[in-house]
Amino acid sequence: MSTNLLAPHIHDASVGDPIQQRIAVIIDELMAQLPNPAQLTGEQRRGIIARYAAVLEGNFIYWMTATFLAVKSKDAHPMLLENLYEECRDSHPAMMRRFAIAAHAFPTDSDAFAVNENLTRMRLFLGRLQGVPSLVSMAFFESWIQRFMSFLAALAAAQGSSEMEYTDVHGVCDVVHSQELFRAVSIELASNPVSPETNIYEGVELLSVLIQNMIQGPAAEPAS
Ligand SMILES: [Fe+2]
Repeated sequence: MSTNLLAPHIHDASVGDPIQQRIAVIIDELMAQLPNPAQLTGEQRRGIIARYAAVLEGNFIYWMTATFLAVKSKDAHPMLLENLYEECRDSHPAMMRRFAIAAHAFPTDSDAFAVNENLTRMRLFLGRLQGVPSLVSMAFFESWIQRFMSFLAALAAAQGSSEMEYTDVHGVCDVVHSQELFRAVSIELASNPVSPETNIYEGVELLSVLIQNMIQGPAAEPAS
């Protein structure tokens, strides 16, 4: 079982939660696919940061808002509102932009188009406003971000940047966010069960493809 690769505080909370355990395995697989930052060219490093910024800056708050609108259980709302409150109060989009600019990786139109198709799929999925699948995808994303930050910070440092507020903030606070989101998944599942044919991992699968697309660039876009 590869969940033992996780930090102990995450692993402890995931015991007995099959959704969290499955997501931990998916994240381990994504982490194992990451290139070695030392072997990337400057343009490859710039591209990864730029595509990440093209996805995150303008979309994360929208994703979380769509999830809030989709979730029916009032008891699950505070976790999502707390997340949105922090995103807006501390202006995480502004933090993201500062990070990208300082690393000389502000996204161009080519960077945005390189992830356009997979980003659109994710937007449309969340637009279907399905409580549990949306929540599962956000819980996955918050967990993944926390694991991804050291890689992103290493890329920015190699680009000559010392602006690390974005990676510092998201390497820490999203541990709490992701745990709260997994708790929200349990609450929503209990009060609004999904039908047997619902794939609660649909958004996780779409996000995994989008993440691979951000890392690998235009070549990673699937044909389908
Ligand atoms: Fe954020």
